[in-house]
Amino acid sequence: MKNIMLVFGTRPEAVKMCPLVKELKRRNEARVCVCVTGQHKSMLKQVLEAFSINPDYDLSIMKEKQTLFEITVSILNNIRVILEKEKPDVVLVHGDTSTAFACALACFYLHIPVGHVEAGLRTYDLYSPYPEEFNRQAIGIMAEYHFAPTEKARENLLREGKKSSAIFVTGNTGIDALKTTVREDYNHDLLKWSSGSRLILLTAHRRENLGDPMRQIFQAVRRITEDYPDVKVIYPIHLNPLVREIAGSVLAGEERIRLIEPLDVVDFHNFLARAALILTDSGGIQEEAPGLGIPVVVLRTTTERPEGIESGALVLAGIGEKSIYDCVSGLLSDKDLYERMSRAGNPYGDGKASGRIADILLR
Ligand code: UD1
Ligand code: UDP
Repeated sequence: MKNIMLVFGTRPEAVKMCPLVKELKRRNEARVCVCVTGQHKSMLKQVLEAFSINPDYDLSIMKEKQTLFEITVSILNNIRVILEKEKPDVVLVHGDTSTAFACALACFYLHIPVGHVEAGLRTYDLYSPYPEEFNRQAIGIMAEYHFAPTEKARENLLREGKKSSAIFVTGNTGIDALKTTVREDYNHDLLKWSSGSRLILLTAHRRENLGDPMRQIFQAVRRITEDYPDVKVIYPIHLNPLVREIAGSVLAGEERIRLIEPLDVVDFHNFLARAALILTDSGGIQEEAPGLGIPVVVLRTTTERPEGIESGALVLAGIGEKSIYDCVSGLLSDKDLYERMSRAGNPYGDGKASGRIADILLR
């Protein structure tokens, strides 16, 4: 029996890896071992609980306001003994986090093959997103199997010289997750509060946006709320204290803006499904919202998800107060533009990505 180990540590990796863990376990054709690094703590726990996954190992590395040095070094040091004990035939990592990078590096040092889930996304700007673009490219160098969500991601990998026999286009496992969480009959007190208004769901957390860009993002949101009385905003704030300080200083005290704790993934997906608009610098939400027909204003200067821009589901607003205000205001005022974005469709998969990855791994 093959020994497959999956390693992840942050909220988005968990959302996208849990469907694959479940699929591999369901087939019962390999030993499946789950190791979480605990790069995130409660935000990771929220996802593990939602998908009923009990990890075999938890490195519990999270510290408040942790640095990239601390994350990388503590994962490298802690995961070695687990890899040496488990001797997996393959280790699966996801995306572009420091958990994924450090784990792939540990596997490389120990000559353990790595499968990279969500491989091949690129901006080719190492500082945007930072440090994720570097992480994803570096994992690409170390990985033996590349599970690319889209044809474009596959083309990036081919251009970089990866063997075509090592690349598999599977769709994104995030869409698999979405298929299990959104419910017609869902309700929540906050959705009752926002009913009758146009709901903007906001998320922002990127390291490169901390400081002035994030302040400008929030100022734009505040102005939108002041100028559009039929708009209400819900912002589940990331637990990073640096994000919370800026959000509190710019957005607190506005009657039509609710600053709340991170939602668990079932709640978040259902809020998303009922929003008029999502404003976000998140990666995963750029894939989920088009899956639900919700237009996305991307609060960044670049995106490694160009498929959504090309289909018309996403619009890149930049990180300046004026450019964001103009973009959101345009969408709130122009019904045709809004409808076109809502109908753009979802280029990120059919919800069967985990099944395809499992087929390949177990073959
Ligand atoms: C990390 C990933 C980023 C991903 C994001 C998803 C890296 C370098 N960054 O960034 O790619 O988009 O996760 O959210 O891998 N915190 C808590 N509790 C939690 C989670 C975080 O208190 O459950 C606080 C801690 O103070 C922590 C800080 O948030 O130090 C930052 O967490 P960290 O994982 O370093 O960075 P993120 O910005 O979350
Ligand atoms: N998400 C969640 N609760 C929230 C906000 C986001 O469960 O309050 C989910 C969201 O649906 C997506 C993932 O978290 O699956 C995105 O995580 P994040 O934005 O933190 O990271 P990124 O995708 O940018 O790496």
